[in-house]
Amino acid sequence: MQIIHTIRELHTKLSNQTRIAFVPTMGNLHAGHIHLVEIAKQHGDCVVVSIFVNPLQFGPNEDFDSYPRTLEADCKKLEGLANIVFAPSVAEMYPGFEANSLNQTMTINPPPIADELCGASRPGHFAGVATIVMKLFNAVQPNVAIFGKKDFQQLFIIKELVKQFNLPIEIIAGETVREADGLAMSSRNAYLSPAERASASQLNSALQGIVSAVKKGDDDFNLLEKEAARQLNEHGWVVDYISVRSATTLKHATTNDENLVVLGASKLGRTRLIDSIEINA
Ligand code: PAJ
Repeated sequence: MQIIHTIRELHTKLSNQTRIAFVPTMGNLHAGHIHLVEIAKQHGDCVVVSIFVNPLQFGPNEDFDSYPRTLEADCKKLEGLANIVFAPSVAEMYPGFEANSLNQTMTINPPPIADELCGASRPGHFAGVATIVMKLFNAVQPNVAIFGKKDFQQLFIIKELVKQFNLPIEIIAGETVREADGLAMSSRNAYLSPAERASASQLNSALQGIVSAVKKGDDDFNLLEKEAARQLNEHGWVVDYISVRSATTLKHATTNDENLVVLGASKLGRTRLIDSIEINA
């Protein structure tokens, strides 16, 4: 496994590869990321994992500075699984970078759905994600790229990016890997205090509650969303959204939709957690 920091070196190393499978990450790798790398291994001869905490996708009051950076430990976890770890600097990914500005004056303008769900409370987030993913795709030029369903809205927007810009890249979705109590694995779980960690699976339980109700035939999605949010608020969460959507369009669910997804984002103390569960008719 090689650790590479520049796009130029990456191009040299990848020039004679036949099928490149790519997993973009922000590092601090956990079993959810490793699951995606294992999928990548099945789909390519050369597995590239990028580790880059992307400043453009963080809001001014978000956790860019405190986001855990654990490159050495991450590389150990990838040994034997990845062929190349691409860990660029901010200046490498943002060529106009100066001390107080990325100078990324051109960005990807994501579709309107990017202003809903997580985008409603994180303005500009998905433009930042789409822009860095486009840059990483240009750097790695993969045949296939793997994204997790945990970030369901992100996955949806990346699929649109590939479709609308005619990128010759196949996108594969990986299932969400969870802790024993149902909490979706996330680098941000490390921010939780022991007491918060003990209640953190309540978000998943709230979404599961909606899934069970819908499976039993309840189609008053609005009421189910409100009730789940109320329960979480009662347990001390500050709910951002709980929403039942079409899994194919991400529009608000209707009784005609065959594939649904229940998505939620909520804050426990200072930690914002997200989760989603699909329901197939
Ligand atoms: P990051 O949060 O590090 O996630 C990298 C990939 O791992 C994403 O595709 C995410 O959906 C997936 N992932 C995270 N937790 C998971 C879990 N519990 N089970 C399965 N997959 C999981 O998402 C990002 O980074 C960034 O936005 C990025 C796409 C790298 C752009 O900067």
